[in-house]
Amino acid sequence: MFHTNLAPFPEGFLWGASTSAYQVEGAWDQDGKAPSVQDLHEPRGQADFKVASDHYHHVEEDVELMARMGLKAYRFSVAWARVMPDPFGDPNPAGLAFYDRLVNALIAHGIEPIVTMYHFDLPLSLHEAGGWANRRTTDAFERYARVLFEHFGDRVKMWLTINEQNVMINHPNAMNPGRTPSQRELYQQCHHMFVASAKATLLLHQLWPDAKIGPAPNITAIYPETCDPADAIAADDWESIRCWLYLDVACYGRYNPLVWRYLEERGCTPEMEPGDAELLAAAKPDFLGVNYYATATVKAPKNDGHDRAPRNGDQQVMIGEEGVYRAGTNPHLTQTPYGWIVDPVGLRTTLRRIASRYAMPILITENGLGTHDEVAADGGVHDQYRIDYLQMHFEQAQLALSDGVDLIGFCPWSFMDLVSTHNGYAKRYGFVYVDRDECDLRSLERIPKDSFHWYREVIETNGASL
Ligand code: BG6
Repeated sequence: MFHTNLAPFPEGFLWGASTSAYQVEGAWDQDGKAPSVQDLHEPRGQADFKVASDHYHHVEEDVELMARMGLKAYRFSVAWARVMPDPFGDPNPAGLAFYDRLVNALIAHGIEPIVTMYHFDLPLSLHEAGGWANRRTTDAFERYARVLFEHFGDRVKMWLTINEQNVMINHPNAMNPGRTPSQRELYQQCHHMFVASAKATLLLHQLWPDAKIGPAPNITAIYPETCDPADAIAADDWESIRCWLYLDVACYGRYNPLVWRYLEERGCTPEMEPGDAELLAAAKPDFLGVNYYATATVKAPKNDGHDRAPRNGDQQVMIGEEGVYRAGTNPHLTQTPYGWIVDPVGLRTTLRRIASRYAMPILITENGLGTHDEVAADGGVHDQYRIDYLQMHFEQAQLALSDGVDLIGFCPWSFMDLVSTHNGYAKRYGFVYVDRDECDLRSLERIPKDSFHWYREVIETNGASL
């Protein structure tokens, strides 16, 4: 659809940027923090999460930079194991104090804190007790939620429960170190995450009726590889299993019927406790966080033992599922150097599909370009490629607004360089360069990239400079 007049970005639009705790903080075992599952990763020749971007020791300086860039919002996550080293015990005062410094500095600069409660870093002790497969993890999450809401609820008004629950279920290896759960167990984990998220949602609404909360799945439009109706069914299946399941439970409070049948056929329906259905139905989010990087393309399965066609890859690389769909290719799209599809129009499509299905406010909680950056001889980082990438995605966000999508903000990934989940420090996303490489911590100096200055102008003009 063409628009004769583009809708302007609304007043109060949340121009933001995102990070997650384990990818930036470092200080992995300091001041009482207990280990998380992420601390088990010791990649050879690649950055681990022990120091990361050392945000823990640069927090005020980093917030100053956010203020210089003009950020209206900053999305970060709290490290569960920093606040609750014993998930069933008392909170760690030093952990709370660190986030007090961060939240207070943000507020002093007029930057809205948007807090993700759990971003891939399950406390190791919970993992060792069965992780999300163990129902007790939902109790631990509720306890943690109460601590966060009681302590920060006077200042933090926007919360995200769980980052990319659908990625954790569809690409489970990173979150289940040392083992590969069965599909049946994964959907039990998934159900417990739904329960945990619903409990937190109800609790926040009870304690702070003026605060808002939502999930943050990775949602992306899907294309059938051709107009063959069989490809269309495969695309529908993919979208239901990977995307709608998660938003249907959050928004409608019930499982998607197609996915429920798919689980029944495989003997993978989760065990529910009495009251779960009512709990899911009662917990209503106030907005939807959406991480968007790349669209996917699928085609009909052949059910010949090769549909899965496993490829080496990360969370955005499409893998098939036997008898359900096969990975397809899309000749209209390019890829980043790391093989991620670049599809700005796909962002508009994704937002439109979510809006027409759920009619809820949407916050883009992640989108960005991960690639190699270099400091030039003049001391700057000239990342025109990142500017081009973001410019295209912001333009499509504005088109989505013009289509009628209630888009409330855009938080690119990431505010500063951080440890990529699969590619260490080689693959950078930030507006701010951090002077370290894979294993050499160097100065950890912060250098605003060209994209930093460009984004500052976008924010200052509320998108009119695009
Ligand atoms: C998202 C995650 O899946 O993608 C982030 O929420 C992650 O934690 C981001 O960093 C980019 O992925 P990667 O693998 O390049 O770090």
